[in-house]
Amino acid sequence: MTIVEVLKLSADYLQKHGSDSARLDAELLLAHALKLRRLDLYLRFDRRLDEAELSAYRGLVAQRARGEPVAYLVGHREFMGLDFEVTHDVLVPNPDTEVLVQRAVAIAREMDGPVRVVDVGTGSGCIAISIAHYAPNSEVWATDISPEALVVAARNVARHQVGDRVHLAKGDLMQGLSGEFDVVCANLPYVDARAKLPAEVTAQPARALYAGEGGAAVVARLLADAPTRLKPGGRVLAEVDSSILGAVSDLAGHGFAGHRVHRDAGGRERVVEAWS
Ligand SMILES: C[S@@+](CC[C@H](N)C(=O)[O-])C[C@H]1O[C@@H](n2cnc3c(N)ncnc32)[C@H](O)[C@@H]1O
Repeated sequence: MTIVEVLKLSADYLQKHGSDSARLDAELLLAHALKLRRLDLYLRFDRRLDEAELSAYRGLVAQRARGEPVAYLVGHREFMGLDFEVTHDVLVPNPDTEVLVQRAVAIAREMDGPVRVVDVGTGSGCIAISIAHYAPNSEVWATDISPEALVVAARNVARHQVGDRVHLAKGDLMQGLSGEFDVVCANLPYVDARAKLPAEVTAQPARALYAGEGGAAVVARLLADAPTRLKPGGRVLAEVDSSILGAVSDLAGHGFAGHRVHRDAGGRERVVEAWS
């Protein structure tokens, strides 16, 4: 079979098994199996796959059909135009989070001189590293309670050559970090432990997903702590979803001088920005 034939069959198969990005999934997995860039699939549509290639690809497609995220199967994921290593120890970077990074970069660029940023719950490091990459005046401290996640983040810091401006630390929220920050960023767990989620989501680390108090507990602790950790004029940017937006907005309404909500590219309310 040729590339074009295999792609058609596997995209149909993945769509039947519930993928809402079946064609893209098929292309990313085939490019990975053949060690080609995705673009090369289009340039070599008539290339034939041998038996070994077909068998490797079938294995990947079968795992994807069972709900395994593509990023875990291929070992990396693009976020903010940068390529990040991902393993089962970290959340797969999500394009919905890019609005938080864009806002942090905009704030940093508006400031003169060095900007101190903290990324709480850094996972793969995608937020911290993207901010460091796009805001060269920033210095970013990135924390996580998961030592395994920090190992992946460290490899991503090295991959993007920002080790001089991104500092990783293990700890609960901002514990162990000293000083005040211009920007406190966080995409912390916010899923209610009782939520029923698809396999693609539950394949990710539980401590990256679930939080008590209907999902708001960890973000609430961060907001309680943040006012004392902000420099004058500093800002908190916390990712939320609709289930915790009300609770987080209430907290931001009490402990801060003001707050607003930013929407993601899909139009959903995604980031609470609060200032003291
Ligand atoms: C939703 S994931 C986000 C990862 C990454 N920031 C991203 O946007 O892809 C949440 C991360 O927060 C970490 N985490 C959970 N509770 C934490 C806490 N109390 N303090 C620090 N990190 C925490 C998890 O280990 C996980 O890596």
